[in-house]
Amino acid sequence: MAQTTNPDRKVPTRRVSFEASLQDVPKHFGADGDLITSHLSAALSAVFPDGEDFFVRSVRRFRDQITDPRLKRQVAGFIGQEAMHGREHRAFNDRLDQLGYPTKKVERITKWGLATRERLLSAKSNLAVTAALEHFTATLAELILTSEEQRQQFGHPEVSNLFLWHALEESEHKAVAFDVYKAVGGSERTRVWTMNFLRFGFVAAMTVQVLVSLVMDRAACRGGNLRRSWRRFRQSPVMRREVWVQLKDYNRPDFHPDDRDTTALVERWREELFGARGTLNDKLPASVA
Ligand SMILES: [Fe+2]
Ligand SMILES: [Fe+2]
Repeated sequence: MAQTTNPDRKVPTRRVSFEASLQDVPKHFGADGDLITSHLSAALSAVFPDGEDFFVRSVRRFRDQITDPRLKRQVAGFIGQEAMHGREHRAFNDRLDQLGYPTKKVERITKWGLATRERLLSAKSNLAVTAALEHFTATLAELILTSEEQRQQFGHPEVSNLFLWHALEESEHKAVAFDVYKAVGGSERTRVWTMNFLRFGFVAAMTVQVLVSLVMDRAACRGGNLRRSWRRFRQSPVMRREVWVQLKDYNRPDFHPDDRDTTALVERWREELFGARGTLNDKLPASVA
C-alpha cells in the first residue's frame, strides 16, 4: 500500500563538512556585526543537534509500521540528512562555545527536556511534535532559499553556507515525518493541538534563549547597540506577517507540506550548491565531489 504522498521525492544524504571553515567565525558574525542576528542564529544552532536526534528517534519508533518501500527509502534519507545536520551544527556550536555563547549548556538542556518528554508521552505524540517542528524548519528554510535579504543577514559566508545547505535539505525532506505520522494513523486533532502549543511554545523558548544569550554578552550593554539591532531585526524578513501565516497554515484541515510546491526552488538550489559547478562541492568528500 502506498504510504508516501510522493514516490519521486529525493532525499539524498550529503556528507558535507564545514568544521574546518567554521574555526575563524568571529563572535558577532551577523551582517555588520549585528547582535540579534548573531545570537538568534546561535540559539537555533544550539537546539538543532539534540532536536534532530529526537526527530530521528521519533520516526524510527514507527519503522516497523512503514511498509511502503519508497517511504522507507525516504525515511532512511531523512535520518541521514538529520544526522549530518546534527554533526555540523555541533561543530558550529563548539566554535560558538569558544566565543562565549551558551550553546553547550543549551544542548544539554534540550537533550534532557526531549528525553523527559519521550519518557512521559506517547510515541505518537512525539511524532506529532516532530511533524510540527518540521513545518517550522520548512518555513524557515523556504524563507532562506527565497530571500536574498535573509541570506545576507547571516553575515559570515561559512555561517551562511551552513544554514543554506541545511535549508535545502529541510525543504527536500519537509513531508517525510508528516507522511510517517499519517501512515501510522496519527490523528488530525493531535496534529493541530501539538502545533497550537508549539507555535507559541517554540517561539517563546527561543525568545528566552536569545535574551539570556544577550545578557551574557557585554557588547549588548554598550551604548545603543541593542536598540540599533532591534530596529534592524524588526524590519527583517523573518519578522514578516507572512511567515506567521505560513506557520498557521499547518492547522488547516487536510494540510499537507507539499501543498506549497517548492520543487523548482529545491531544484535551483541543488544545482547552485551541488550541481556541476556547485559552490559547496568543496565541502563534500573528494570521491563524491
Ligand atoms: Fe535538519
Ligand atoms: Fe528536518
